[in-house]
Amino acid sequence: MTSPGNSAHPPGPKREWLGIEQLTNPLGRLIREKQRHGDIVYFPNPRAPAWLLTHPDHAQHVLADNATNYISLAGTRPNPLLGKGLFAAPHGDSWLRQRRLVQPVFHRPRLARMVEGMAGDVQVMAERWASHVGTGEPVELLSEMRRLVVGMLGTSVFSSNMYESNATLRAALDYFTQDIHGPHDSVAMLLAEILTSILGMPIRGSRSKRFLAAVEQVNTIFYGLIAERRQAPAGKDDILAMLLEARDTQGVALTDTEVRDELVSLYVGGHESTAVALTWTAYELALNPDVQRRVRDELTTVLGGQPPTFESLQNLPYTRAVVDETLRVHPPAWQLVRRAEREDQLAGWTVQPRTLMVVSPYLLHRHPDFWKEPERFLPERFLPGQKEGRHRYAYLPFGAGQRQCVGNGYTLTLLTVALATLLPRYELRLAPDYRLVPMSGSTHRPRNGVLATLTRAG
Ligand code: HEM
Repeated sequence: MTSPGNSAHPPGPKREWLGIEQLTNPLGRLIREKQRHGDIVYFPNPRAPAWLLTHPDHAQHVLADNATNYISLAGTRPNPLLGKGLFAAPHGDSWLRQRRLVQPVFHRPRLARMVEGMAGDVQVMAERWASHVGTGEPVELLSEMRRLVVGMLGTSVFSSNMYESNATLRAALDYFTQDIHGPHDSVAMLLAEILTSILGMPIRGSRSKRFLAAVEQVNTIFYGLIAERRQAPAGKDDILAMLLEARDTQGVALTDTEVRDELVSLYVGGHESTAVALTWTAYELALNPDVQRRVRDELTTVLGGQPPTFESLQNLPYTRAVVDETLRVHPPAWQLVRRAEREDQLAGWTVQPRTLMVVSPYLLHRHPDFWKEPERFLPERFLPGQKEGRHRYAYLPFGAGQRQCVGNGYTLTLLTVALATLLPRYELRLAPDYRLVPMSGSTHRPRNGVLATLTRAG
């Protein structure tokens, strides 16, 4: 690696950052450049250079220790779907107020009350899967997990699995899923991000009529639900009820628009990463029969054939380690981007204002100085006692610092409930002709899903 004394910036490729590979296989490019140049890689876009950061110390500097200088790009591109909710709020007072109002929704006692509803939704999927058992007819896991996770979120947020029961909402959500993954959208997003950072002002993405019509449909449904609940609170114990009751430090409640924006942030914003994480977990279990057997043994011993409860979930260290290890090897959020506001020093180099800092959980999770045999799937590394002494910033599936995922405890509960409900019933195997093709767009996921066959667990 070039020493800071010899150059104005860290080593990196000569070519512009926005090459064709950046659009088609951005993670592949980052992996290669890291191998070539080391822990910090400089990408020389002249107006908005980018640094790739893959060392935990540097992640800590940008995301936590000096976070006030490194601003999230949330909200730089107006998004009619996400509005100004927590997910899309630019950093500042409005974000902080929302964070304080939303965070308590996921406190432990509230999470505990959500477990039964979550398990009920998994049972419905498990029933549906029964027709595949022993037929050799594979199940496509990514679409199944999307359907499941949206349903589970619906149950937690509205006390109703709205995805199954409301065809209009289902069509709108399905459209958003396609839209997120269409190449046109990732290209447009990237261009908008780069132009925004060059020009210093938000670029309006031109959204298709179909997208805006789907947003209108979501609005009609969500505003209708909010009005109904305001008129007749119905004694529900769900996230919508909590948001309607929430008061900020001045005693002020959220407006209808603010409640709508938070609902979208949680219900729409959280589901894709969670569905992808659940799919990767099932993929690893199908690929590693010994791990799958050990999870099933633990579930049988601890749950004894009963549905999981919040208390019993705390006694499943190996199952939980499988989830943690999956999020290490396959972090859905594979990069976190920040923009430097002012000049700064990092590892002896000068960071210029407006530089984009790309922290990559995918590469942090494989840093050979912090992980032994990083490419191997070894859940044991997350068993109690194994984590001591590990750098806190070597493992960041949910980000870190102020903008860390607000739904992380919820997500870990949901993933463990899903395994605890499915695995006692079914054994998963990859379909014989299935080949994994990973891709990294808005999430790191299997491009064409995962095909698995099912047999009844003995
Ligand atoms: C495996 C599943 C998930 C992963 C990997 C994930 C990952 C992340 C990451 C990395 C961030 C921080 C982004 C940044 O620093 O730029 C984030 C933020 C956020 N996540 Fe998640 N997330 C998941 C599930 C969820 C769920 C289920 C919800 C809601 C129920 C949710 C709601 C949010 C919200 C609202 C934010 C913005 C927080 C803020 O800016 O204050 N996430 N998530």
